[in-house]
Amino acid sequence: MTSLRNARITAVGSALPARLVPNSWFESFLDTSDEWIRSRTGIRARHFVGEGESTASLGTDAARRALEAAGVPAEAVDLIVVATLTPDRPMPSAATFVQAMLEISCPAFDLNAACSGFVYGLSVAAAQVQAGAAERVLVIGAESLSRVLDFTDRATCVLFGDGAGAALVEPSDEPGILGSVLELDGTQADLLTIPGGGSADPPSEETLAGRRHFIKMASGQAVFKRAVTGMAGACGELLEKAGMRPEDVALVVPHQANERIMMAVANRLGVPHEKVFVDVAEVGNTSAASIPIALDHAWRSGRLAPGDVVLTTAFGAGLSWGANLVRWTAPAPAPAEGA
Ligand code: ACO
Repeated sequence: MTSLRNARITAVGSALPARLVPNSWFESFLDTSDEWIRSRTGIRARHFVGEGESTASLGTDAARRALEAAGVPAEAVDLIVVATLTPDRPMPSAATFVQAMLEISCPAFDLNAACSGFVYGLSVAAAQVQAGAAERVLVIGAESLSRVLDFTDRATCVLFGDGAGAALVEPSDEPGILGSVLELDGTQADLLTIPGGGSADPPSEETLAGRRHFIKMASGQAVFKRAVTGMAGACGELLEKAGMRPEDVALVVPHQANERIMMAVANRLGVPHEKVFVDVAEVGNTSAASIPIALDHAWRSGRLAPGDVVLTTAFGAGLSWGANLVRWTAPAPAPAEGA
């Protein structure tokens, strides 16, 4: 039996739509306020897709930035995994369009684990590389959540944003992706769901009239509590498996759902708040895209250095949750031309 190889992240990249939507935009048609949204979530603004932008186009832009930073040509990629709950079409996958836009030839598929999609995707990519089944895998988290938001429901529409992030995973001498924990409680699917428009409740005048094509959250507080216990539990389990302590972690990069959730997870883990990377203020909750966008923002702003132990963790619909433990190996990216 051949032994497994090591896998590492060699670069990350991200892309946000051009249109920036501040909290004040919602005040014009909803009974809400910038103060309510900021104090409950930490969000000040988010980006929404416009004409010519889609989940696949954002994912492609993020992938190009990761490839450019790694100095790897797109043709060298031999697998694309796109984590998304908002593919451009029900069929074929968003990964199909990313592959076509990158003008390459390789297998590509979507993975839907809602907001936990990147954590699941990174685990799949690492396993492919470790087993020798792939050499260079693009793991992309990409979403156009504004397309599935009910703009009459103030409890959900203010929370989410659009965007994409990508990580390039390659073989390495030393361990880079140290491990993952993936969890799911399928009995709680109704807590956070898009109930209509799928094969169980196909698109019809009734599904449209009932607004069943939009995200529904039965209880924000229940999701909040499960998110904190789920993410803290997965992180604790993963650190224990790796023989590490919270003090060994240089940066926690959590799913950017809500600043209060992230800080509650840090408190449970015993990690100081300065070691938690937060960019939810300008990005909002971008579901599967949030961790790779945050990793890219952290990396390009100098918050990640080679050797750092990074803990990512996510929670979302399913209910799904999990964590990845990564030893960061990528050197700081060269500044963009003209910067
Ligand atoms: N503006 C003003 N008031 C609002 C808004 C809004 N945008 N949304 C809800 N409210 C009102 C409610 O109607 C309620 O009013 P009432 O008391 O008159 O009934 C009041 O605010 C309090 O509502 P709660 O739901 O108790 O508010 P809470 O303090 O829990 O904050 C929030 C709500 C921000 C949704 C919080 O529960 C939360 O962050 N939960 C996590 C949910 C989440 O992040 N979901 C995203 C997907 S899952 C994930 O990514 C982890």
